[in-house]
Parts: sequence; C-alpha cells; structure tokens
Amino acid sequence: MIADKVLNKIHCRSFLSIKRLLVVILVCGSISLAEAQQITSPNKNFSLTFSLKENGVPFYELTFKSKPVIKSSKLGLATRQGGSFLDGFTVTDVKTTSIDESWDPVLGEQKTIRNHYQELLVTLTQQAQQGRFMRIRFRLFDDGLGFRYEFPMQKGLSYFIVKDEVTEFNLAGNHKIFWIPGDYDTNEYPYTTSTIAEIPSLQKKATVPITAQQPIKSPSVQTPCMMKSADGLYINIHEAALINYPAMDLEVDAATLKMKTHLVPDAVGNLAYMQTNAQTPWRTIVVSDKATDILASRLILNLNEPTKYKDVSWIKPVKYMGVWWEYFVAGKSNWAYSTVNNVKLTDNFAAFPPSGHHGATNENVKKYIDFASANGFDAVLVEGWNVGWEDWIGNWKEEVFDFVTPYPDFDVKMLREYAASKGIKIIMHHETSAAATNYERRLDRAFQFMVDNGYNAVKTGYVGDIIPRGEHHDGQWMVNHYIHVADRAADYKIMVNSHEAVRPTGLNRTYPNWIAQESARGTEFEAMAGLAPEHGTILPFTRLMGGPMDYTPGIFQTDLSYYGTGSKQRVNTTLVKQLAYYVTMYSPLQMAADMPENYARFPDAFQFIKDVAVDWDDTYVLEAEPGDYITIARKAKGKQEWYVGGITDENRRTATISFSFLPKGKSYIATIYADGTDASYDKKPQSYTIRKVLVSSSSVLKQVLASSGGVAVSIKEGTSGEIKGLKKL
Ligand code: NOJ
Ligand code: CA
Repeated sequence: MIADKVLNKIHCRSFLSIKRLLVVILVCGSISLAEAQQITSPNKNFSLTFSLKENGVPFYELTFKSKPVIKSSKLGLATRQGGSFLDGFTVTDVKTTSIDESWDPVLGEQKTIRNHYQELLVTLTQQAQQGRFMRIRFRLFDDGLGFRYEFPMQKGLSYFIVKDEVTEFNLAGNHKIFWIPGDYDTNEYPYTTSTIAEIPSLQKKATVPITAQQPIKSPSVQTPCMMKSADGLYINIHEAALINYPAMDLEVDAATLKMKTHLVPDAVGNLAYMQTNAQTPWRTIVVSDKATDILASRLILNLNEPTKYKDVSWIKPVKYMGVWWEYFVAGKSNWAYSTVNNVKLTDNFAAFPPSGHHGATNENVKKYIDFASANGFDAVLVEGWNVGWEDWIGNWKEEVFDFVTPYPDFDVKMLREYAASKGIKIIMHHETSAAATNYERRLDRAFQFMVDNGYNAVKTGYVGDIIPRGEHHDGQWMVNHYIHVADRAADYKIMVNSHEAVRPTGLNRTYPNWIAQESARGTEFEAMAGLAPEHGTILPFTRLMGGPMDYTPGIFQTDLSYYGTGSKQRVNTTLVKQLAYYVTMYSPLQMAADMPENYARFPDAFQFIKDVAVDWDDTYVLEAEPGDYITIARKAKGKQEWYVGGITDENRRTATISFSFLPKGKSYIATIYADGTDASYDKKPQSYTIRKVLVSSSSVLKQVLASSGGVAVSIKEGTSGEIKGLKKL
C-alpha cells in the first residue's frame, strides 16, 4: 500500500508540465490527489477505496460495516487499436460530490424515490499515450455502489473498439450464489444454487437446452446474480443503464473467487464500438446484511437518466388477459391459421387450408374481450393475429412477419370497434422471430397500423437466432435495437413489453413506455420443462433487480393433465401462490394468464386479481430470503388500499405479516386468501380459504403457507359495522 502511494506520487510529479504541476500540487495538497482515494456512503456503512497500483493500474475495494465485500479488484478496458485503458495511469484530477434529491417515477413501486449518494470522480491520464485520459465515476449509496468508465471528447481519442473489459469483482468468500449460466442469447435458464467454487462443475448441468442459446464456454454466470456470504451479507451484482454497449456476463475463477467482466461479442468478434463522449453502463453492487434491503433497493433506477419524454400522460399501468395460455396447454388452438408449412408474406393466406385450430379468431377474441371487460381489465393480448406463423420458428428466416396483415379470420376493424365498445384495448403482438432487421424496416408502418387501429401497447418477441446473422440477443447491436424500438414507440405513444430481449438495467426510468420485459424463465415454462417451487423466490433477487417482469402469473388450473392432451406437466405452485405473485413480482403490466373458463370456476379467488393494484405509492418488504420466501406489502397508487403477497418455496412456512405499514388509529377490513390446511402444490393446489377480518396498524397475522404456497391479502378502510360478524384479527 505504502509502495503504491509512493509510486502514485512519483507519477503525479514526474509526468506533468511545470504549469500543471503547480495546479496538481495544490489539489494534491488539499484532497490527496496522488493517494488512494476513499469515500464513504451517506450512512457510513460503505467505504470505497480507489487506488493505482504498480504500473499505474487502477483498482477498487468495497467494504460494508468494515467487512470486505469486494477485495482489491482491477479496473480497465482493452481496445483493438492504439493503447489500451489498462495501465500507465496517473491520477490527474479528483472530485467528490454529494447528492440528496428525490424524484417520482412515472410508474413504480413507490411514488417518490430518494437518490442519495457520495460521488468520487477520478481522472486517469496516460502520459505515455499523449496525455489520453478516461474517468471513473463511483457513486456510493446507502445500499451499495455503482461505477462506470467515461471517455470524454479529447485530442487523439475519437473512436475505439473495445476488445475486453477487465473489471473485476474479487469476492471475499466462497459465497452461496443464485445463478444462471453466462450466455450471449438467452436468460431463460432455471436458477442453480451453489457455492461460487462449485460453479465450474455445475455449469454443464445448468445449461439446459433453450431455443436460441450461445453459452459461454468458460465458467460464467449472468447478472443480476445474487450471493450470500457465510456471515450473512447479501450481495447483488448487476449493471445499470445498458445503452450502446454489450451486456455484461461474469467469468468465474473458482480457485480465487474472482469474477471478471465478459462482454457479449458481435458478429465479427468485437465487443463495443465507442465514440467520445462515451461511457460504459454502470457496474452495480447492492449489499446489505438484510435480504429485505436488497429488494427495497432503488440503486439501479437511480443510476439511470430521467426520462426525456416531455409528455408521459399516455403511459398507464395495464392489467390484461390474453389469447395466449391456451396455445401452451389446452391443445385446442395455435398461432398459425393454416396447415401449410412453407409460406411467404406475398402469399394469399385465405387460399390456404385452415387448420381449424387457429386461436386468434373473431369469435375467440370476442370471448376474451367480453370476459376481460366484465371483470374490469384494461386490455386483451392477441397472439397469432397476423400472417406468417406457419413457418415462424427455427429457419433463420428474415421476412417472417409484416406486422400489418391479419389472418382471414381476424377482422381488425370489427374487433377494434368491439373492443372499444367494451372499454378494452387490444394489445398488439409483434413476434419478430429474432429478425430484427426485418422489424426495423417495417417498424414505422407497424406502429402507424397500431395507431390507426387503436392499439397503445405492443408485446414484442425475439425467439430464435438473431438477424443480422451472427449478432446476439445481448450484444451492442441488439441492445441498441431494443432501445430504438422503445424510443420510436414513444413517438407513437405506444408502450412496449419485450420478450427474449436483453435483461433490463433500469432503463424503464429513461424509457417509461418500456413498461415491462420477460427476459427470464417465466410462466410459459410451467407448460414445458416446469419451474422449481423456489423459482419465484429467486427472481425478485435476480432478474427483477433490473426492472419489471411480465411473468404472466394467475394460473388457477395448475395440474395440466386436466386438459387431456397427454401432458403430465404441472404448474409447481398452489393457486394462492399465483395470487401472491401479483404483489411479490413487481410489474406495472400484469397479466391474468389463465383462460376465462378457469377463472369462472373460482370467482372468489379471482376477486383478488380483479382488485389488486399494479402501480404503487409505497412498498414494504416484510420478510425475504432468496430461494426460500418473500413477503411484500404495497399501497395502491392514489388509493387507501393495500395488498400483501407472501410466497414460499417447497417448504411449508408461517409468514408473519405485521400491519404496521397501515396508518395509525384507523380500522381496516382485510380479506385473507390462504392455502387450505390440506393444500400443497403437488397434491392439492386448489385448496384455499378466504376470510375477512378487522385489522389495524398494530395487528400481526401469522399465516401458514403450504408447500410452494402463498398468502394474499387485500386491505381497505372499513369498520366492524360494515360486515355482519366481522371479527378482529
Ligand atoms: C415466447 C414468448 O415468451 C411467449 O410469451 C410468446 O407467446 C411466444 N414467444 C410466441 O411469440
Ligand atoms: Ca420467452
């Protein structure tokens, strides 16, 4: 350490001109320019140290309550041409700033978010490279650290190509980790729980087959990855504001417990094309000794830029149903209209033999609209409405869809008018089949078609190998594509829900019309390989750290053998756990994914889905442990209504719900949806009870959750006079 300081001083003095030396000595004197730089978080729990080591190589270290979180870890980038940003640096400027401000998200988990941090901005100059410089900006919050590299416009540095980003996360122990394997194309893997050291031996097993995948060969994981140290520290690594740069995976060195950035390459093997002014996304490390704090963290949103949209009044939360789940389970319908399997967009689809199993028919869509309207929903998603589904998958075909031509049995005008008369919006579906080029060419016509026909939201999809061929779902080109689609959609006042897109990084702050994403293994997999009972307790600690998920909960008929298709698959939760997901799985866009006929069988339980809010004034994370359980309470936006959701993994447990989040001195009516005493996800998933009780801010509910079960509570103001026989909890 002392040697480092001496070296830094020598760098500081030897490479500077006399004039600059004077300036720098002044700064050195006042804020120790050449020493290791240190800042602490506003609450003093975190300490971040930046230093230059031998050969002017930058390093950082992070501690929480004096415990090491990230041990001395290397920073820097290697470039294709010219010198790299790896070594030979001197510190030529240091600035610290503190910010404490608040902002209101358009849609969110809370009405107002506090942005409170201490910033350290270090300018690093390579004197041997004609004084070329980069900056590293660190922001230390009460819940963790964010940092990024910045490349200001400067003489001799305009364009460069990133060959490697060497950012390291040198972990302080062999932590327990919740992870999915590193991959350039998919984030739809099931989670594996292991120690860091076990990752290499489990990598192969964890890499299950997925439609389009490109696993990283060396041991690696994707972010957000969630860790827990033996002494109870929860550590989450991810990134924020992924713009014009590839997504970050993490290579894992099981022997040294070091992780290193691995960026997704492009078709010719380059990683990122940079033009000054440029910056990388933020690398984020959220840390606490309480798991509940990880879920309450808004660090990633805080590191994203405010929206640049002037008018956001058209961006609204959405609760929707869809012609969708029946494609996966019921065996009665399909996206494609005909039985032909080699089609072109110029074909006359009306002349093709109909399969008789088309799902997006006028009649079926009307059925969903009727049901959604009668039950207070905002919208109905219709998949399979447009020509091209006959050979959409697996052919690496470019011109799969045109996004404007309906199948002969889907009457755009009639359905537009019918939906409008029932107060329902139809949600557009743009499956691109991963042909992003084709989508971009047709994007404006597709959006104009939506505007002309009253659609204000689109679900996009990227199933398959990407076109431009050789590009990856998570590379720089596609990262820019998804943002382009969201930004262009805003020109047409359209909201976007993207599936199979790169994992989110809080960009819903900047592009609030990018209302939700899938970007993980969602409910559709319950109909295929299945989801482990613990899956829902891991997602909020991993995938959802980046932003809202279109998880598509609400499956009431969980035993899929019910449909007589031969499937023995089951949704691995109780019915009540599906209700609880509306609270534990945050999204301002929520689907009731099951079919109307199944909701009609359980109208009392369906009432919770009808009531539950999707946009919130406040959120209270009551209990949480990744992989085990989560209990969250939220206050509905602009209403005196609260909703609670609690879930557990395969183990029965008793949730403790303290109602202390309620305003004091008033009484409330709580409707408690609970697993039946004999309920379990695999034997009796549809056993549930519903009871109403009086609660106040001093009430505490102890509620047993079945194996892979849940609890859901809705709370409204009310007194004992309102319902006969209503008792206190
Ligand atoms: C995969 C999506 O996740 C799913 O929701 C959709 O139905 C299919 N692709 C077809 O687009
Ligand atoms: Ca998917």
